[in-house]
Amino acid sequence: MSLWGGRFSQPSAAEFKQFNDSLRFDYVLAPFDIQASKAWAGALQTAGLISTEENQQLQQALSALAKAVAAEPELPLQTDAEDIHSWVESQLIASIGTTAKKLHTGRSRNDLVATDLRLFCKQFAEHLIKANLAAIENLLIFAEQHTDAMLPGYTHLQRAQPIVAGHWAMAYVSMFQRDVSRLREAVRRMDVSPLGSGALAGTTAAINRETLAHELGFRYASENSLDGVSDRDFVLDLLNAASTGMIHLSRLAEDVIFYCSGESGCFSMSDRISSGSSLMPQKKNPDLFELLRGKTGRVLGHQHAMQVTLKGLPLAYNKDMQEDKEGLFDALHSYLQCLQMLAFAVPELTVNREHAALQAALGYSNATELADYLVSKGVAFRDAHHMTGTLVVNAQQLGIALEQLTLEQFQQVCPAIDADVYASLDLQYGLNQRQAMGGTAPKAVKVAVKHAQDWLHAA
Ligand code: ARG
Repeated sequence: MSLWGGRFSQPSAAEFKQFNDSLRFDYVLAPFDIQASKAWAGALQTAGLISTEENQQLQQALSALAKAVAAEPELPLQTDAEDIHSWVESQLIASIGTTAKKLHTGRSRNDLVATDLRLFCKQFAEHLIKANLAAIENLLIFAEQHTDAMLPGYTHLQRAQPIVAGHWAMAYVSMFQRDVSRLREAVRRMDVSPLGSGALAGTTAAINRETLAHELGFRYASENSLDGVSDRDFVLDLLNAASTGMIHLSRLAEDVIFYCSGESGCFSMSDRISSGSSLMPQKKNPDLFELLRGKTGRVLGHQHAMQVTLKGLPLAYNKDMQEDKEGLFDALHSYLQCLQMLAFAVPELTVNREHAALQAALGYSNATELADYLVSKGVAFRDAHHMTGTLVVNAQQLGIALEQLTLEQFQQVCPAIDADVYASLDLQYGLNQRQAMGGTAPKAVKVAVKHAQDWLHAA
């Protein structure tokens, strides 16, 4: 039986019903719908709209239903319920009869669905925060193990300056820390209960909406009933946090794919996380990281879809808003899965230390060191930059590295150069120089790791 059959003389067409129904995807809201219903029944009793016995009956039936749902996370049996709200009500009516029909007094599916979805989002955001922390933990282990493992650093995908692999990992730790804070921000803002907003104009039930909100674990009750039922900013906030988090995962994945490529070869993946080619026997492919990168597109797509759905919607509730769920659920599950896969994959990565150090030395990546050296000899930086450029071209023409130029060859370009130039061209020397906070010197990276470990322990 539908919830709204009274004014209709014909049942819904099966074609329309199939199109309209949302139970197949909103069943995951069952625990939250039950939780909201329990709190609502309590409020109805306090308002004198149902008796103590009726409330007790409802509480027992709802608890039993919650147990059944927990035991059966997939949608059970055939049902013609339209959505999760109708389903819960129909189950209650089947188990306790008339009293169940009183539960919907003074409430609407509009305030109920907004409440359920907020409860769901708050809980899911906590899973995402935990998964982010686990990924950070593994990146920190990687960083700590590689504070001295040299790696070519790039700008414009051209070899730029040597870094250490730990420094590379710590860059992503910083990003993931911000992702955690974005999720926490989203939770803080969504911590508002719309229950008691009615269909759009508020409820006639004499309830204390703030007490009701607190009972459901919300910090506040919404201030305006029209906004309460039609606000989906919290969905956008969470999708935004997920999208930015996925963008970070995708950039990390791209870096790993590149460092694992034949062209770079600085990283290797274990066989456990690589796949092969059906045709080319030599291939070892980074599918895991490509999927992290690939799934980013769909999460970003869901965020955009939600923005477009909301844009131009008149107040208050419109059925368009039912389209908030499938994309959101898919985005959140994808993000969670990708975070878990990343945490799993990081320990399976190896830095090919010797090869990576050789790679880091190529491409005149110590040219900045030479310019800095000239500055230390009293040459103005702009002139030092120019002279170094000339020396790079000279070395390039000879097919040698900067440190292979003779002192004479150096002095032809800049007489201020001494034999101590060779020490400053040493890659390790260059790395060690970058000790200021946030730099790639092993010492600075160790400090950064310690800092992030402290943050993680307090998180
Ligand atoms: N299934 C609906 C949704 O997800 C619930 C609210 C329906 N309200 C209504 N008046 N049709 O948005």
